[in-house]
Formats: sequence, structure tokens, C-alpha cells
Amino acid sequence: MVSGGSADIAGDFDTYIDRMSLAEKVGQMTQVEVTSFDIDEVGELFTDLQIGGCLFGGGEPPSYDPTTTVEGINELQAYNIDHSEHGIPFVLGLDALHGNAVVDGATVYPHNCGLGATRNPELVSNVSRETGTSVRAIGAHWNFSPTADVQRDPRWGRFYEGFSESPYLTGDLAEATIEGHRSAGICSCVKHIAGYSVAENGKDRSPSNVSIRDLRTNVFPAYQRALESDPETIMVSSGSINGIPAHASTWLLTTMLRDRWGYDGVVVSDWRDFERMQYIHDFVSSYREAIKRGINAGVDMLMNPEDPASFISIVVELVESGEIEEDRIDDAVRNILQFKRNAGLFEDPFVDETLADDVVGANREVALDAVEQSLTLLRNEDGALPIADTIDSLLLAGPATDSAMMQMGGWTLGWQSIGNGQEIAASPAVTTIYRGLQDAVSPDTSIVHEPTGFTHEPWSDDDTYTFENEPRIRSAAADADAVVLTLGEGPYAEYLGDRDGISLPEAQRRLVESVADVVDDDTPLVGVILAGRPRGGAETLSQLDAVLMAYLPGTAGGTGVADVLFGRTNPSGRLPFTWPRKDGDFSSCHNSWARLVSPPEDHIAAFDREPLYEFGHGLSYTTFEYTDLSVSPQTVSDPAEQRSVSVSVTVENVGDRYGDHVVDVHATESYGSVKHPRSRLLGYDRVGLDAGDSETVEIQIPLRRLEIVPGDVLALDEKVVEAGTYTLSVGDTRTTLAIEESGAMNDRGPIGRV
Ligand code: BGC
Ligand code: BGC
Repeated sequence: MVSGGSADIAGDFDTYIDRMSLAEKVGQMTQVEVTSFDIDEVGELFTDLQIGGCLFGGGEPPSYDPTTTVEGINELQAYNIDHSEHGIPFVLGLDALHGNAVVDGATVYPHNCGLGATRNPELVSNVSRETGTSVRAIGAHWNFSPTADVQRDPRWGRFYEGFSESPYLTGDLAEATIEGHRSAGICSCVKHIAGYSVAENGKDRSPSNVSIRDLRTNVFPAYQRALESDPETIMVSSGSINGIPAHASTWLLTTMLRDRWGYDGVVVSDWRDFERMQYIHDFVSSYREAIKRGINAGVDMLMNPEDPASFISIVVELVESGEIEEDRIDDAVRNILQFKRNAGLFEDPFVDETLADDVVGANREVALDAVEQSLTLLRNEDGALPIADTIDSLLLAGPATDSAMMQMGGWTLGWQSIGNGQEIAASPAVTTIYRGLQDAVSPDTSIVHEPTGFTHEPWSDDDTYTFENEPRIRSAAADADAVVLTLGEGPYAEYLGDRDGISLPEAQRRLVESVADVVDDDTPLVGVILAGRPRGGAETLSQLDAVLMAYLPGTAGGTGVADVLFGRTNPSGRLPFTWPRKDGDFSSCHNSWARLVSPPEDHIAAFDREPLYEFGHGLSYTTFEYTDLSVSPQTVSDPAEQRSVSVSVTVENVGDRYGDHVVDVHATESYGSVKHPRSRLLGYDRVGLDAGDSETVEIQIPLRRLEIVPGDVLALDEKVVEAGTYTLSVGDTRTTLAIEESGAMNDRGPIGRV
């Protein structure tokens, strides 16, 4: 070692960078997947290549045992510090996307799509603090989370990683995630910038062709909001955007991200994305050219190049030939060192090895709270739910009755599912729906459990569902006092989760039809859906008396579902996305540019695209009424001065039982120089009210949420809140807000012409 090791770097990075060779600097820009803790196997990453970062790709560590993992990482870190030239600690990142679901026994929280239904940033922050504490305890300092990609197309295999189709709700919950990580001493990674979720045909890593107006109105604001809490890193989208791979876009990664939005953290690539400029995007003819384009566009760190040694030598050559300025390399290294300093790695690169066992499976009550706030009651004909405690028999059937895999989804002890379809000696903490119902029913109720066939096909996009025991299920259904069918989809991640539509698999549709055919009229027939996106079209769901959306609820899914089915918890989740009526209706987000309501009768009825369930839909066992909706001030002369308004509404529980209730405030009607999104979620709050009680809720609305991009088709002008009258809605109540003068709101410099 030339210097005295990592303590030495606490001072000025520039002096330090001057002492590093070019290859050492590029080493810092290299992140490599660690698949073993054996120094003989991986030691040369630190001695020969002097890499700056490690990861457990796809949420898969070399060992599923928490303590083995932290011990292994500490050993590698000690080896790295002792054997690399400057003793700079590496930083380890991983994907703990719904709890620290990368190790055995972990408490698994709902995937983000479920958290979006809670409308509860404080809860999300708690979830991410607990996740961060657990991540830290197994030796990592960096979580590749939050995802700030807005949900757009439910065919996309990564829909469930998003919080919502609303950029504002997405941004708020991404921000809450960053704050939670930070309070646990973990660094965040906002991903995947930008427009990754707006991909052609809903296919993963396919081109996003998104208008600049849509991008700036409905997509960017989610990332921008997340960036307001200074995340330590951001990850670039693997897709291309308007004809250029995001990794090669100087406009995106430098002009917008750095210059306009003032971001000063690390920009990390996604997995092998320089190689992918060649073999996915067909953008450049050589790897060398891809590296040059990527680093010059603004990427600081490359995630897992196929051959890290050749990556490093190509960058050195590009700098020597003048095709990449050395200043660009120095900037990247400075960002990376600052990130490591923020992570606390220079103070103490090692992690306490005694915490992992206690921490990893803790906080089951936070997990249950998250499930209960997320569960969304979509349909409840004639009060079919809750099911009475006094029933004699309940039939439980369907593929998701007792399936940890369907309850967890992807990114759980494996990328695609638990063990990636192989037997492993590890499992998440889980209460399945069967177990949850067994715990919940009274001793006098018998549960007839008839699972239907579900086989997860590893590394395939096609699970198998069967319905072979139909006669038994039909006869049990005819005799039961209540029937619960669990429906949905098997686990998946990324492109293997791309689907052609939202319809449930055929065997499940037959299950619903067949059971609906035999149950008595007064027997509640309930569907519980475990899925990471809307699954089930109107034709199937309308045959059920009640439908409960459980998303991918994780550990406490079974307990939470049972509590709602038997009425111990009153459901309060609100859909974070729009639920299309049928396959093919995929563009109908609440904030899309299309008018969805039917036109007057004498016009051509070309607009039959009404969703099955609107964004924000979610029923309760009690009834809430809104009165006295008002906004203050009601007139804003200049939105650049008066940057927010306060909406007030009185909510009354007029039913006969306690309930939590989410108040969503929307802008539903406004006109200006360009089309406005059909509707926008401006703010929300969550209250709990006893029967007969009421509360006046005040919600601050940042006026930026009313911004539009003026100008003709090119949409390059500065965003403004235009003068006009805006209808603000809470449920069916309405009020108006008058903006007298148009005003530019952007406080991070103009994002106008570039
Ligand atoms: C995903 C990222 C993830 C990374 C590391 C990539 O395939 O796109 O979201 O963080 O792998 O596992
Ligand atoms: C069509 C036009 C057509 C016109 C007159 C419209 O509905 O869009 O293509 O020329 O009718 O028939």
C-alpha cells in the first residue's frame, strides 16, 4: 500500500485522485457481481483490477444465510483494503426491493405496487428503514431502490416494481424510501432514468418512444421529486428513449440530470448496459464505441461488465487516445468517492456481524400493517364481504391458496422466484392465505381446501395452471357457506414477466365460471387476486360477488387477507393504477391524454375505453361522505409566488363501523393552450374514523402538480401553470381554483429549450 489505507482518504479527494493511476481510477468505475466469498476465486478483483463496487445481481447473494453473508463480505473487504493499492473500500449494492428478500428468513413487505395503494409515505419510510437495517446487517451499504418508473402498461414484466401510474404519488413514495434508507445508514439508487416503463408493446428493454410533452408532464416529475432528497446514486434505464439508448444520452444524463436538475451523485449503469448498446439496441458496432458513448454521456460506474479487465483497458485506451477526457474520469471517481464517504465506508468499512440473525426476520408487524393498508376491495356486491364468523364451512380453492411464490413474486431469494425454480434450503418468512384463514376462522368453521394446479416454470414466461379436480370443487362449492378463490399469477422478474394481456390464465377463468355456476345465490363467492398488476378482465371478475386485490403482499399476506375477509380489518387501499376492462385497453391511465368518458350520444361512440376500475378505486365496509370541500386561496394571482394551496374537506364515516379512509384530491377539468391530462392526483391523506365521526382534512397541494408544457408539438418550452379555472375534486365533490396569471414554477433552472 502506498498510503495509510482508507482513513487517509478522509481529506481532499483531488489530491487523492492525483495519486491514482488511470487504471486504478477506472477500477473505481467498475462494479462486479460477487458470486463467491472465496478469496481464491474473487481476490483478483481487488488485487489486479482494484474494482470500486460489488453487487449481488438479481437479489442473489453467494449464500442465503445472513450471517455467512456478512462474514463473507467483511472478509472480502479486509482483503481488498489490505491488498489494493490505495485501500479504498468497495461498496456493495443489492436489490432488496420488498424487504431484504435476498436472505433466508427475511420479512418480506408488499412489492411497491401494493405500497402505492396505501397512499402512506410514512409507512413506506418505515418499511424502507426496516429493509435498510436488514440490508446493512448482511454487509451491504447500497440498495438499488427506489424505482421511480411510473406504471404505464400492465403487460410489462416490471409493472409491480413501480408505486403508481401517478408521477406525484410515485415521487412521494420514492422520496419516502430514500429517507427510510438514510435513517438506516443505507444509500439509495433511484432507477431507471428515464422512461423505462413506457416501452413499446409493454416489452422489457424495448424502445420507449414517448413524446417530450408526455415525458415532461407524466414521467420526469417522479424522478425529479425523488432527486429532491439527494439520493446518493441513480441508475440508468436499459431502454432506448426516442431513438437513443438512455446510457448514451448526454441530454438525459448530463443536460437534464446534472445541469437542469442539479444532481451531483453517482450515475450507475444498469446490468451490462454498455454491451447492450450493441446486442440489444443495435446502436453501435463495437463495444469500444459503446463505452465511449456511455462514459461521455455521463455514466460514472458500469455495472457488471462481462469482462471487467477488458472494460478497464478499453477505457484507459480511450483516455489515452483523447476520445474520453481524463477530467470526465476524474469527475466520475470524485462522485464515487463522495458516495463512499456518504455511505460511511471511510469511517468504518466493516459491518457488525452479530446483528444479522436478529434483524433479518424482525418487524413482522410493520409487514402486516403494510399489507392491511394496501389491500384493495374492488367489488362487493350486496355486502358479500365480510364473511360472517358464524359460518360452518368455507371452501378455499385456486392456485394461490398456499403458495409462497405467488405471494412474494420475483426478487425473492432469487431473481425470478424463490430459488429460481430450484429447491433451496432457504425461505422467506410467510403466512400463506390457507394458513392465515386457518388462524382466523372460529373453531366451529371447517375449511375445505382444494388447491388447483400451479407449476412455476423456471426461466420461462409461461407458468402452468390446471383445473383437474373440477367435480370435487363444484360439489364442495355447492355445499359451502362461503367460497374464496385465490387467483393471479406466478412469480416473474423483468422480461420473463412480459405478458400479452391482463386476462387470467384460462384454467383460472374456468375455475371462476365453474364455481359461479354452482354456488347458491346467498353464498358469497369471493376472489382474492395475487398479482403485480391488474389481472382479470370484466368478464371474469363480474362473476364474483366480491374481489379483493392483494397485490404481491409478502410475509403477512395470509394474515392480512384473512383479517379483511372476516371483517377484522376494514379495507382501505386505493388502486395506484387504472384497471383496464379487457385486453387491449392499455393506454387508459387516469393522467393520459385521452378522454375516457362517453361523448354525447349524437357523437360517434368511439370511446369505449372506460376502465373496469378507475385509478383510486377502493371500497370499504363502511361509507364515507365528503362535505365542505374548499381550496385556499381560491384565487392565485401568480403561481410562481404562491407556490401551493391548501385543500380542505370534511370526511364523515356515515356507516356503522370504524374505517381507515384515503382522501385523494384530483384536478379533473382544466383547459389551456394545450391539452391537459384527463386527471391528476394532486395530493392525498389517510384518516381513521369511528362510525359517526368526522374529521376535516387539510392537504397541501404544490401547484407544480398543475404544470403543463406549453408550445406546439415539439413541447420544448418552459413548464408553466397556466392561467385558467381548475376543477378540484374529492370523490363526487368539486370546487374550483382560479389561476389569474400563468407562472413558471421550476425552481431548479429552466428546463426549456435544450
Ligand atoms: C435490473 C436492475 C437491478 C440490476 C441488479 C438489472 O437487471 O434492471 O433493476 O438493480 O439488475 O440486479
Ligand atoms: C373519415 C374520412 C372520410 C370522411 C368522409 C370520416 O369519418 O375519417 O376518412 O373521408 O369520413 O366519409
